[in-house]
Formats: sequence, structure tokens, C-alpha cells
Amino acid sequence: MALKNINPTKTQAWEKLTDHFNNNKEIRIKDLCKDINRQEDFSLELGDLSVDFSKNRITEETISLLVELAKEVDLKDAIEKQFSGEVINVTEGREVLHTALRSTSDEPVLVDGKNIKPQIQAALRKIRSFSNKVISGKWKGYTGKSITDIVNIGIGGSDLGPDMVVESLQYYKNQLTTHFVSNIDGDHVSEIMKKLNPETTLFVIVSKTFTTQETITNAETLKNWFLKSATIFDIPKHFVAVSTNLEAVDNFGVDKANVFPMWNWVGGRFSLWSAVGLSISLSVGFDNYRALLDGAEEMDLHYKNTAFENNIPVILALLSIWYNNFYEAETEAVLPYSQYLKKLPDYLQQAIMESNGKGVDRNGDKIDYQTGTIVWGSTGTNMQHAFMQLVHQGTKLIPADFIGYKESLYGLVDHHKKLMANFYGQIEALAFGKTEEEVHLELKFSGDEAKIAKLLPFKVFEGNRPSNAILFDKLTPRSLGKLIALYEHKIFTQGILWNIYSYDQFGVELGKELAKKLLNKQ
Ligand code: F6P
Repeated sequence: MALKNINPTKTQAWEKLTDHFNNNKEIRIKDLCKDINRQEDFSLELGDLSVDFSKNRITEETISLLVELAKEVDLKDAIEKQFSGEVINVTEGREVLHTALRSTSDEPVLVDGKNIKPQIQAALRKIRSFSNKVISGKWKGYTGKSITDIVNIGIGGSDLGPDMVVESLQYYKNQLTTHFVSNIDGDHVSEIMKKLNPETTLFVIVSKTFTTQETITNAETLKNWFLKSATIFDIPKHFVAVSTNLEAVDNFGVDKANVFPMWNWVGGRFSLWSAVGLSISLSVGFDNYRALLDGAEEMDLHYKNTAFENNIPVILALLSIWYNNFYEAETEAVLPYSQYLKKLPDYLQQAIMESNGKGVDRNGDKIDYQTGTIVWGSTGTNMQHAFMQLVHQGTKLIPADFIGYKESLYGLVDHHKKLMANFYGQIEALAFGKTEEEVHLELKFSGDEAKIAKLLPFKVFEGNRPSNAILFDKLTPRSLGKLIALYEHKIFTQGILWNIYSYDQFGVELGKELAKKLLNKQ
């Protein structure tokens, strides 16, 4: 059974939300936060994660109406259909089962009448055994030396996820050096080649289709470079692949035994939980990779089984819809207060914008309301010295997710105290601002009244700028898995509410086709 097809703007809840918005749009977060119970009432927890969404322009009624909207479009039914393997990616005729990849339950998940769990387990065993061999040094290159460098060759979902996770889990990394080649720009691959020794490098070609121009071009270039020192008989020791296209992989010269599976029921941008994450397992070891999956599974179960009022991905999705569709905010910022997460915004840009950047609804009709938000961001505190001026005092409303950790990994307490003081300082400054009176008081002793009056408007912070505080105890593989899955479910929830298909990406095709045509003309 397909997903339901309900125009959200034609629902009763939408009508009520519109009235509610018109009656409350001048609401001030500062006033709302005078309620001493607000933080507790507008916070949710899941193990080592707490999400404080009290600094939003919402009341209990807003949440209850947004939840009513989720119920009216039958989000529950959509979640069940996704998890149980219905063909919800209708335009591509596919199931969407990245959640099955991290599931530890024995409950079968059927695709074409066949349980896919055994294949998933077999792939995980293969990843584990291969990672162990390479990390321990047992896997030898063509001159008998152990591997020192891994090169992941892929783009989009076959690059951004593994790259972001390897960067984020740097603290847990082993002795192998991991590189990521993605761009068709030959200077990218050239810079990486400079650092490699063919005798000790393992290339992981990741491409679901094995036809992607960038990946195949980079893979061929690296193979040719490798063959300057080695022979074609040495390729199996140095090139492995992750793909669904076994024929193309075979033609490239990769040994069948070194091909890791990918499946059509996993979308590229949701695939780091499959063998696409091989370079993660190679970089931090299989146990840490499994912990990442376990964290995601914890979020899956929470998403699947928790009432919408208490459901973290659902609440974050509803808040995003509130700002996007009622306050007409166009963008959202993701602001991790951890340098390890510097690649998270890039990763989320693909996950969010490739999924929900759609202008046609599930009926095939052009949409007359706003869908996918533009997401961007960078790490705190660096971004405070870059773009935060605009977020604090600019003309645009930019809801923000602040992501932080109670503890740092190396335990430099002084640094961490300062980092988190900034985390909370920014949230407060955005929410509460600084009034004319406060500025006046501050300037009182610094000059005459005329001077103060001139300067005053520039120093006022309007405040009332919404944000969420997403706080974990510590950055671990498990908490990272949870965080990524949180955003995955937020994406799906929004897609359901907007009545769009989140799992296709036809919008990337036209440019590719034209580039091919232009290339053929040259
Ligand atoms: O950018 C379009 C896209 O199809 C992404 O969805 C995908 O992650 C990427 O290209 C790479 O595709 P492949 O894994 O087939 O090389």
C-alpha cells in the first residue's frame, strides 16, 4: 500500500495552525521563558541525549496543533510502512530500508517476499573480517607490506556520510590514514595521490551504480597511477568495491571476492550504515562501527514507538515546519560545538536538501506551499566570529540547532567550560536579545546622552530568535549514530507532512545529462 496523499494545507489542523499563528505571531520567547517550568516542559530525553526546545516561538497549543497535523496526515502509517519495507519510494519503485541495516532484532523484513536480514548480517560479517585483516596488518599489498592508507573513492552519499563519520570519530581512529576523493576536479585526486605509496594503499571504490562520472574517472586515474608501479595481477590486493553493479565492478578488475554489497532498498544518502561505511569500519574498527549502528537503532526504536508529543525527530520536524511554513523562514542553521563535527553541515545538506527539495507532491501536482529548508552551518565557536552577526542582528529569521557535548574527549576542562559557556551564551543571546534599556544602562557612563542615543539602535539585539539545544553526554560512535538517525527521521517526517517523495533525486539528473552532451561535443 502506497503512502497516503494528503495536502497538508487542506487539513483542519493547518487551518487551526494558521489561526493560531495569526493570533500569536508576536509571541516573545523571553515572555514564554518566564514560566519556570518551561524548560522542563519543552525538553525531551533519550538516554545520553537531551533536547531542549524551550527557546522557540511556541506554546503547548502550538505543539498540540502541530501534532494534530502529523496525525491528520497519518504520519504513523507512513512510519510503519517505511520500517516494514513497503515500496514507499514510489517514483523509483523501491523500499526504503536503511533502518533494517542497523536493526539487531530477529524480526524478518521482507523485500520481494524474502527476508533481507540474513544478507545484512552476512555483509556485516564480511566488513568485520575484512576490516580486522587490514587493521591488524595481515592483509598485504603486492610487495608484502601491510596497508597504511585507505582511499575512499565516491561522491554524494558514497562519500559525504563516511567522510563525515571518519572525521567526527577521529578520536577513535587507528593507525591507518584515510583519504576521501570525490570531486571530478583532477587537482583533488592529484593532491591525494601525492601522499600515497602504491605498495601500501587500499582503494575502496564506492558507487551504488558504478556509473557515476566522478567516481569512475577518479577510480580509473588512481588505477592507472597504481599500474605505473604494479601489474594488473596486483589489483585484487589494492582495489575493493562497494556496489550493486557487479558487472561493471568486474570489468574494472576488482576481484569478486572483494566486492561488498549495496542494495536498491538503501538510498545513497542513507547508506553509511551499509558497506558504504566500509572506510568507517577500516578507520575506527568494526566494534566502533557497530556502536554507531547501535546508536542509530536506539533512535529508530524511539522514532517508531514513541508518541509524537515525546518523539524527538517528530518534534524537531514539526518545529521546522512551523518556521518554514508559517513564519516563512527559508533557512536553518546547524551549529555543532565540536570541531569533530565540522563536516556535519555538508553531510546534512545532501541528506536534507536532496531529499526534501521537491516542488511536486505525491499526486504529481505542483506544490503551492514551501517545502525543503535550506540548511547550512559551521562549528562553534569559529562561526561566532564569522556569520553569527547576521543570525543575531540581520533581517532574516534563522532557526538554529545547537549541538553540544557535556564532556570533551581529551578532558581539557578549561577549554570545555569556555566552549559550553559560548554554546549557552549564543542560545540566550538569540532568544532574549538586549533591549534599549539594557543598552542604555550599559552606555550610561560612556558619553553624553546625544552620543548614546545615536549609538543605541546599533547595539540593540531584538532577540526572539529560535533555537534548539541538542546535548549529548559525550561524542562516541554510539551518540553519533543516534544524532545522524535523528536527522534522518526528521527528514522523512517533513517529507510526509509536505506530501512529497523524499527518497528520489531526479533534480540532479538534468545537469549530469547536459554535462555528458557537452563533453561529447568537445
Ligand atoms: O547526487 C546524486 C546521487 O545519485 C546521490 O544520490 C548519490 O549519493 C550519488 O549520486 C552517488 O551515486 P553512486 O553511489 O551511484 O555513485
